[in-house]
Parts: sequence; C-alpha cells; structure tokens
Amino acid sequence: MFGLNKNKQNTKAWKKLVSEYKRFKKVEMRDLFAADNKRAAKYTLRVNDLILDYSKNRFDEKVLASLLALAYERKIPEKINSMFTGDKINITEKRSVLHVALRNRSGRAVLSGGQDVMPQINEVLLKMKKFSDAVRYGEFKGYTGKKLTNIVNIGIGGSDLGPVMVCEALRKYCAKDINCYFISNIDGTACAEILNKLDPETTLFIIASKTFTTIETLTNAKTCRRWLVNALGEHAVDKHFVALSTNREEVVKFGINPDNMFAFWDFVGGRYSLWSAIGLIICIAIGFENFEKLLEGAYAMDEHFRTEPLAENIPVIMALLGIWYNNFFNIHRYAVIPYDQYLRFLPAYLQQLDMESNGKSVDRENNFVKYATGPVLFGGAGTDVQHSFFQLLHQGTEMVPVDFIVPAISHNEIGNHHEILLSNVLAQGEALMKGKTVAEAAEELHKAGKSKEEVEALKKYKSFSGNRPSNTLLLKKIDAFSLGMLIALYEHKVFVQGMIWNVNSFDQMGVELGKQMALKILPELEGTYFADKHDSSTLALIKAVRKFRK
Ligand code: F6P
Repeated sequence: MFGLNKNKQNTKAWKKLVSEYKRFKKVEMRDLFAADNKRAAKYTLRVNDLILDYSKNRFDEKVLASLLALAYERKIPEKINSMFTGDKINITEKRSVLHVALRNRSGRAVLSGGQDVMPQINEVLLKMKKFSDAVRYGEFKGYTGKKLTNIVNIGIGGSDLGPVMVCEALRKYCAKDINCYFISNIDGTACAEILNKLDPETTLFIIASKTFTTIETLTNAKTCRRWLVNALGEHAVDKHFVALSTNREEVVKFGINPDNMFAFWDFVGGRYSLWSAIGLIICIAIGFENFEKLLEGAYAMDEHFRTEPLAENIPVIMALLGIWYNNFFNIHRYAVIPYDQYLRFLPAYLQQLDMESNGKSVDRENNFVKYATGPVLFGGAGTDVQHSFFQLLHQGTEMVPVDFIVPAISHNEIGNHHEILLSNVLAQGEALMKGKTVAEAAEELHKAGKSKEEVEALKKYKSFSGNRPSNTLLLKKIDAFSLGMLIALYEHKVFVQGMIWNVNSFDQMGVELGKQMALKILPELEGTYFADKHDSSTLALIKAVRKFRK
C-alpha cells in the first residue's frame, strides 16, 4: 500500500495520461519556449491583481487537454457545485463543507441540511465587528479599567496557523498600539515566554478551539487563566477571556462566560476556519473593515473557481499540474516559496491545509488507494531559502516543483531592496527551467580564462539539468483582499486534488492514534507502572525519561 510508485487508476483519462507521460517525459521546457513565443501568454491566468504564470511547467497542449479530460472525468464541475450547495461531501463525518459560506458576499442563501446558514454567519460577524471595535477603541476594557493592548490567541493547528499567518502577512495594517501573541505548543516554554512579557491588566486571552477538547489548548488556557486569576482574582475572568468554539458546553465548563463566546459550526473544518470566529484576533489586529476585505478577496476567488471553465480556472490548473507531477512523474513533494517577508508563515499554514486534507490512503468508497495522494509540502521565505535548500532544487537528483509567490510592490520600498528581491525570484524560475548544459558550463569556464584541465574538472559541477518546473504567482501588493484570494486559491486547489484522488479532504483521523497513545503514556512517565504493553524501544525511552526526571 505504501511507497506507491505505480499508479493503479484504470480510467480512460488516467490511462491516456500514462501514455502522454511516456511521450512527453523527455521534452525540455527550453525547447517548448523556443518553439512558441506565445507560450507565456497562453499559459498565464489572472483574477483581479493576481496573476498565475504556469508556463514554466512540463506540459504541452496535449498534456493539458488530457489533464482537463481527467478533471471532467472526475466530475470536478459537479463536485465544485456540491461543495457550494452544501452537500455533505465530508462523508466520514457526514458534514457539509461550507467555509465558502463564511465569505459569501453575494446575499444568496447557502443551505446545509436544508437550512440557510447565512443568518447565523452574519450574526457572528456582527458580534466580531462590535467586539473587535470595542477592544481596538478601548471601550471594552480590562477588569481594572485599562485598555487591552496585549491579545493572546491560544489555539493549535487550524485554530492557530491561519490567524498567525494572516496577522503577520498583514502586519502593515495592524493597529500600532495592539500586540498580538500566539500560544500553541504544549511545551511550557511557549506559555512562559509570552506570559513573562505581559501585564495581566492589559491582556486579553482568546481561547480558540473548534472542539474545546484539544489538550494543548486547554492546558495552555488553564495555565493562563491561573496566571490571570492569581494577579486579578476570579472576577476578572469575564473581562480577560473569550472563547471561539463550536462547543458551548465545554466553554462553559471551562469557566468562560457564554456571552464571551463566538460560535462557529461543524461545517467549518479547523484548517478552513480563519474566516470564521477563529479570525477574531485578525479583526482586532487589522480592524473589521480589513477583515471584510480579506473575506471579499476570498469570495472573488470563490466566484472565479465556481464559474470559470476548468481551462481558465487557476485553482484547477494548479491542482492538475500537481497531479501530473505526483501521479505520472512520481514526484511526491512540492515547495512553496513566498518572496515576501510578511508571508513567511504561509508555508507552515499550507502544510496543514494540504497535508492534513489530502494525506489520506482510503478513498471515498472505503477502499485503500493504489496510487499516490497528497504530496509533502515544504517551503520558506525567499531569498533566505536560496541559501539553504535551493542547492538541492537546482542540482539535486530530486525534482521539486515550486510555487513562487511575490508582490510587485513592497510595503517597505527601502532603497532598491525590492528590485533585488524581484530579480531574484524571476531569476530562480528561469534558472530552474533553463538550467545550464555541460557544454554551456564548459564554454563559460573557458571564457573566464580557465585552463583546459580546469574546464574538464569543473564543467559537470557547474552544470544544471534544468527542466525543473515552477509556477509564479505575481500579486500587485499583499493586502487583505489579495491575501484572501491567495489563501482561497490554495484551499480550492487542495479540494480539486482531493476529488481527483477520490479522498475525503475534510477529516483528519490520522492525528488520532498518536494522541490516544500519548494519553496512555502520560501517567506512565511518573511512578513505576505501565498501563500499556509497549515495544522495547518505547519502554526503554519511558524508563530513561523517568531516570532523568528523578
Ligand atoms: O490536529 C488535528 C486538529 O483537529 C486540527 O484539524 C485542528 O485544526 C486542530 O487539531 C485544533 O483543533 P481544535 O480547534 O478543535 O482545538
């Protein structure tokens, strides 16, 4: 089942792609560009101020037609429609998947189980507006009457990564007198380092947890609650704690006033939740008007995705190219490299989005799959990563498709920093695509005055295979609207791939086993007994931990 190298899909479109791969695998992108000076124009798409140039990928018209045939065979237009109309496409949990309703700006009703979900969504948005305004303008104050200027989001996974990423991406739009902090890790260091900096009188804790049962979040929240109560007393809690959750009962049990709770619903997956109440810290940081722009940007991408034909549909095209590499080139990885310091947390956010959604091995009809599904995603901010893993991207034996993301205009146009940054990202895409043949490397060395022996000794080391694919997503500027478009683009890309692989992209049962085992090991770390029968490695490690901690 694992280490799948062969794809075992037997449909017509899939088989056609297998033969297309045989025909096409040796074709060089350099030659495709040389043969067609309209290649870039043909393979560039745009939505508002977001441009996708996908011409530096290893495909031609016939491959693209076959990929699109696969999308039609997998009924992607119908699947898109079924998400937007609230069908219970999260089949294992029997839920609708309606993060798109959270940013539905059309005024249209959106149904889940026959019920319009828009009134409740709009009600919570209004509550978020009122509360975030009140905090920003100092109307909602701390227990001792001071303005709340330190906002701490306690959450993990989807209840953390989206808000962290967006607050950083939109730092330029954040209120200057408000500091945002994020506690996610159960490691006490995460809590301690932040609490050490804060004054309880000016601190607001946002406990973000869809289920309100996640051990990391609840443990961190309890620690912070104790810290606050020790300083200001039990009565202060109402003025310093709010909850974002679908689980009112647990919120109350925890000791947070239900009036201070912002609800969301089971049709919103954790990793798709930054548009919901989970975005409260974003609202406080950038203001509700900007949060609405984020929603509007996502809505613009939703409309593009919902209405454009597949051949002109940015998320669909990116998804299909990903499938082409994953299932036909057998390349099970890709990198996302934002050339923007403010977007440096985007890869971490996308890791959860993509890998928690499509890291699956059972199809929607309850069979183990016989083909590769979700790839490994990694990344980091350019140009930093040019000086770490780019060596492998250019000369390693592993081909890694890359998405480059870059704004044309920086928020910090200092000197010529941004031109240098832009020249780098554009050069990387070109270098990966063109490479440098051994003959070209030899010629270059020769021209640089190297001896014949030196040329011979170095020419292979200085050569680049090229033919390495990349997408370039060029945005005019990173603002709330364009960021909303960008995030929604990746959500929909992941959706299309999940549907082509025929997996349920909306559950995450793979995170459960480790959690269950941790609960058994926890009491075993103290004392001398073992509740579980462990393997010899785990047993020895538990004993070694006990010894160290004695
Ligand atoms: O890691 C599993 C997971 O369920 C994620 O899907 C989710 O985003 C995260 O844990 C946090 O869950 P919750 O918001 O319920 O605390």
